[in-house]
Amino acid sequence: MHPRCLATPEVLQEATLSTEMTMHQPFKAVQVTDAVYWVGAIDPNVREFHGYLTSRGTTYNSYLVLGEKTALIDTVKAQFKDEMMARIASVVEPSKVDYIISSHAEMDHSGCLPDAVAEMKPEKVFASKMGVAALAAHFHGGLDVTPVEDGGELALGPDLTLKFMETRFLHWPDSMFCYLPQRNFLFSQDAFGMHLAGTERFADQVPPWLIKHESSKYYANIVLPFSNIVQKLLEKLDASGLVINMVAPAHGPIWRSGFRDVLGWYRLWSKQTLKQSVLVLYDTMWGSTDLMARTICDGLSSTGVAVKQICLSQSHRSDVATELLDAGALVVGSPTLNNQVYPTIADAMSYIKGLKPRPRPSATFGSFGWSGESTKQIEEALTAMDFENLGQVKAKYVPDHKLLQECWELGRLVGERVCPQDPDGVTRF
Ligand code: FEO
Repeated sequence: MHPRCLATPEVLQEATLSTEMTMHQPFKAVQVTDAVYWVGAIDPNVREFHGYLTSRGTTYNSYLVLGEKTALIDTVKAQFKDEMMARIASVVEPSKVDYIISSHAEMDHSGCLPDAVAEMKPEKVFASKMGVAALAAHFHGGLDVTPVEDGGELALGPDLTLKFMETRFLHWPDSMFCYLPQRNFLFSQDAFGMHLAGTERFADQVPPWLIKHESSKYYANIVLPFSNIVQKLLEKLDASGLVINMVAPAHGPIWRSGFRDVLGWYRLWSKQTLKQSVLVLYDTMWGSTDLMARTICDGLSSTGVAVKQICLSQSHRSDVATELLDAGALVVGSPTLNNQVYPTIADAMSYIKGLKPRPRPSATFGSFGWSGESTKQIEEALTAMDFENLGQVKAKYVPDHKLLQECWELGRLVGERVCPQDPDGVTRF
């Protein structure tokens, strides 16, 4: 029996009402330029995004480009299809959408594509060559997708053309940008985006500190492994002479001004330019590793270096990645539990490794009861990432004064490495 058959009449009635209501959702499009409308969805409640804590929710951005022909760039996550359809309908009858373009196949942008295609019946669905294969692997033949070439064009009218620019592995193998030369307008899919819900559609409507914070969190957690590709793309954009006045990413606000800011940040972040700061990352079981961490931080701060202390039982791995983005060194501490590094630290080390951070100096510390493998295991994980190891301190059960002095000296050593001092003890900034 199909599970739906188990539904009570009340549930069925509720489902019918819900369907009727979503058919009449009054969501409206937001005009971006004379020819471009935002028709995406706002998801303020999402917190889990493949391991990334989206503390401020997100948006799934779709864009309608209106010429003699109408194109929809990207769809939204499956459960937000009706919101997108309502916003489209506020501008144009959905059946009048001629083309749908998939910037990449990830489900937050393609989840409702089959249903949207069934409802809109566009003339064509386009994706990059790799996108055609990726969509086929997601939807198993349910979609007829036409490949576009890198540099290919789609005419939407005599004065409106979409140009396609492949950005392979930024951040999916099939990713591509779309550019509207007549409006100097770039649709940048996930690049230059951020996970930030809200009713503000433009970056200049959001406090600058929040824009920079969420941009850096997004870069650190999503884009960082592809930093070499970002650098090549930025060189390509520079060499192309493309004029870009507005940038519409697939998440978060649109850059109608201030794009040079995020471009500058991407130049810095993709080079992984490090600061005179140290991240101390740890967790604690009975307080010993916490005491060691605080003592190491004190030794670090004596050198003038900026210190960020994160206890993983109180923080999320995606905040660790954000802080690590430009930290000049990493110090990691863990108790030993059942001969292993503490689970939260193992989680963070695995996550960090996948992000391919630039190698930098590191140190380890931790407490133990009878075996004490944690520091060695952390050291091995850091060595596997080519991080230089500057030292290690281990405490049996509870650190005594002598051992805490060693912790303080370890902090001092790491701090001096990141923030060198003159022989007279003056910190060189
Ligand atoms: Fe926002 Fe790569 O999906």
